[in-house]
Amino acid sequence: MLEGFANEGFTEVWTPVALSREVGKKPYALTLASERVVLFRDNAGQVAALHDQCPHRGVKLSLGKVSKDGCLECPFHGWRFKSDGACKDIPLNPMPEEKRQRFAATALPVRERGGLIWLYTRPGAEAPDEPLVPTDLEDAGFSNYFYTETWAAHWTRAMENMLDMPHLPFVHRRTIGGGLWRNMKPDSRMEVEVQPTPVGLRTTSTLDGKLDDALLEWNRPNNMTLTILDMPGRTLRLRIWCVPVDANHTRMMLASSRNFMRYNPLAPLFYHFNKVIVGEDRAVVESSHPVEVPQASEERSVATDRATLAFRRWYLERKKRGERELSAVTEAPPLAS
Ligand code: FES
Ligand SMILES: [Fe+2]
Repeated sequence: MLEGFANEGFTEVWTPVALSREVGKKPYALTLASERVVLFRDNAGQVAALHDQCPHRGVKLSLGKVSKDGCLECPFHGWRFKSDGACKDIPLNPMPEEKRQRFAATALPVRERGGLIWLYTRPGAEAPDEPLVPTDLEDAGFSNYFYTETWAAHWTRAMENMLDMPHLPFVHRRTIGGGLWRNMKPDSRMEVEVQPTPVGLRTTSTLDGKLDDALLEWNRPNNMTLTILDMPGRTLRLRIWCVPVDANHTRMMLASSRNFMRYNPLAPLFYHFNKVIVGEDRAVVESSHPVEVPQASEERSVATDRATLAFRRWYLERKKRGERELSAVTEAPPLAS
């Protein structure tokens, strides 16, 4: 069950999947690494996540509704499921509670923090740890802005793009890469520095010995955090999560945070600028072939690819492990009694 997570090298990780404000009273359907998931709020407003496939006849639970008792009711035959997946009622089939528990839906660990809904990509009620929620998102001293869009690209291509410094003067020549472009000479050299961190890596770059003012961090599995250095007393960060939808689509979830000019009337312009920059990336990344990042040996790489190659090694290793674990499960399951 939920093999898509392993097939995408995306099993047993936390990721944001939706903005809090997107999940209201109605069930919210999404696809994560080719697996269907439904989010809904119980009577207390607490978010729950279930595999969006009724255990009875496989229809989408998200087409149903949240009933008065806070359960999610399947649209087909009205079975009702609690937040933890337990089956609360099977209409027309009265039975003792303990027998009914054999008809449970599959729940996934879920949290709502920092304006985002986070999911852990393993079925079951428990997660071994908590999501890495950026402190800015839960700090009242910060103004946070969220934006999402979906790219026609594999998440690994999108992720690598976010960790890639040398594309700036080309893809973003008219925006954030303009300074680099103007300072580049025919014999210029960019040095990319990569340092591991407990949760991924951090990378900075120099152009002809001059440090760029952007610090990029990769936080496993799918987050890029850009901090603008050299702004004493002020913090400006852009975070992007590349959330796998399926092999050909990635939901880009942006959060930009700043602790200055919080009520600036020009803020919408500033946010629009983020959108323009992401659009510049999208135009090239969607053309990548093969869609998913291949083994490093199948593409030519250079010294300025150090950060993206570190990500690629991690991804391909996890993916290999996922396939191995799956291939160990070869026996057919026993028939239910
Ligand atoms: S398919 Fe869901 S109750 Fe029958
Ligand atoms: Fe870019």
